[in-house]
Amino acid sequence: MNILVTGGLGFIGSHTVIELVKNAHEVIIVDSLVNSKIEVLDRLHEITGVKPTFYQIDVTDEAKVEEIFLTHKIDGVIHFAGLKAVGESVSKPIAYYYNNLVSTMVLSKMCLKHGIGKFVFSSSATVYGDQPSPLKEEMALQKTTNPYGETKAISERILTDVSQANDGFAVSLLRYFNPVGAHESGLIGEDPNGIPNNLMPFVTKVAKGKLTRLSVFGNDYETADGTGVRDYIHVMDLAEGHVKAIENLSKGVNVYNLGTGTGVSVLELVNAFMKVNNVDVPYEIVGRRPGDIAICFADPEKAEQELGWKATRSVEDMVRDAWKFEVDNS
Ligand code: UD1
Repeated sequence: MNILVTGGLGFIGSHTVIELVKNAHEVIIVDSLVNSKIEVLDRLHEITGVKPTFYQIDVTDEAKVEEIFLTHKIDGVIHFAGLKAVGESVSKPIAYYYNNLVSTMVLSKMCLKHGIGKFVFSSSATVYGDQPSPLKEEMALQKTTNPYGETKAISERILTDVSQANDGFAVSLLRYFNPVGAHESGLIGEDPNGIPNNLMPFVTKVAKGKLTRLSVFGNDYETADGTGVRDYIHVMDLAEGHVKAIENLSKGVNVYNLGTGTGVSVLELVNAFMKVNNVDVPYEIVGRRPGDIAICFADPEKAEQELGWKATRSVEDMVRDAWKFEVDNS
């Protein structure tokens, strides 16, 4: 297939491009470079042997998006492009609602106009709100704690309504749990601008000495060691999930959790990182972070049953590959 990948130079997008090329798909990348670097394109070339077609555009720009749909024969869209910093979304709600919702509307509109019937969307487990894990796709969505989370829930609604109104428009809503790690080559990985918000990129920067110490947000949750529990998933497993999702897309709206099904606490992840990589990660316990929940992990059965996809990489793989990327790129 010819697949348009928005945000294809970002963390999850770039890893998915590798898997798409590996599975003989042609990729057209669009990325505004607002939170990614053009060097990633060369790295993708190095890893895959193929230099994907690339356009630096913002997908809220309908005229520019349409030019791409007119220039290329596209079979499907995987839409990663979006703003994703939770804290920033609270202080800049309009930027988040505008970017993340207009992009979804522009792309789905173009798909309808140009007869493209396959759409895969980057959603998040955040749409479940605070419900007991394991989280299942059929659970009702709950209000999230921030505008970023709301943009994921509303985008899901928009795409569901568009699909219901248009028979030939099939959608896959992929709810990611906590993507971490990097491609095993160490050539691409997670490279956030500024001080990271998420745990794993923070840990790698502390281990490298670029940040002094990790703050562990709370050890008084109702979990085995008191720290928050999440379902960390290796980004290459996630990338493989996208290829399965677009290749096996059924009619209508399809919702899948992409997680491992196993909860891991903050301290378990940090200890695994130190042990596997033989490096120290100084940390201190501080108060809870507002908006955090105690436990969040997936029931990943549906994706396995319907897509034949299952995460196979271990926590050890995740911490090793995340560290390799940090060491090789700083
Ligand atoms: C966060 C977002 C979620 C988003 C996801 C994307 C919040 C509340 N949620 O999920 O909407 O989809 O990122 O990857 O921000 N932690 C620390 N110290 C740190 C950073 C994190 O102890 O410096 C802890 C957190 O309290 C949590 C765990 O590590 O228990 C994971 O945090 P994080 O990586 O930020 O992901 P989520 O909060 O699960």
